[in-house]
Amino acid sequence: MTIRILAFCGSNRRGSFNQQLLKLAAQGAVDTGAEVKIVQLAEFELPIYDGDEELQHGLPKGVIALQELFAQHDGFLIATPEYNGGYTALLKNVIDWISRPQNNGILGTALFTGKVAALVSASPGLLGGLRSQMSMRTVLDKLGVLVIPNSFALSSAHTAFDDEGHLRDITAQRQVLAVGAALTQAAMKLGV
Ligand SMILES: Cc1cc2nc3c(=O)[nH]c(=O)nc-3n(C[C@H](O)[C@H](O)[C@H](O)COP(=O)(O)O)c2cc1C
Repeated sequence: MTIRILAFCGSNRRGSFNQQLLKLAAQGAVDTGAEVKIVQLAEFELPIYDGDEELQHGLPKGVIALQELFAQHDGFLIATPEYNGGYTALLKNVIDWISRPQNNGILGTALFTGKVAALVSASPGLLGGLRSQMSMRTVLDKLGVLVIPNSFALSSAHTAFDDEGHLRDITAQRQVLAVGAALTQAAMKLGV
């Protein structure tokens, strides 16, 4: 059975360190046999969640498209940047929208429940965005996602990558690839 993993990042910034780290972790999953789709959240219409808007106009097209993608995948690889000690509003907005009831009447939360996820983060700071991982774990836990213990937080991200997008530190490079690999293996073992 092929494991399908959806990979996304909480920063739409051009040159995002988290986007770069996500690509590496995704490669680790591909190397262990997973099918990985990296989506750019910037490509989806995602207004800030508003219950009145939802009531009047239903789900925005971008949310419906993301719900379909979530339905098609067994696990999530998430790069979670840290803003003021937590994860970004972009990620929370995506999760909140997707959790809303789908147009087929099924709860959006069902798109998370029983699936697996792995987290990576990158920051120019010393903790590498680790605090954002903690708060993201809490949210995913509430949604019934099993977040595997394997993770990676890249500190000094502004000097960590070479021109080809690899980490200069070979041990760190291996560790990031290992996160993607561990996610594939966990999904296989759980039979999600
Ligand atoms: C509003 C804001 C708050 C931030 N707060 C933190 C923080 O609490 N901890 C941290 O390590 N970096 C913080 N940063 C720096 C980000 O880690 C840095 O901008 C990083 O490059 C963002 O990820 P990206 O490269 O994927 O866009 C903050 C940046 C912004 C814009």
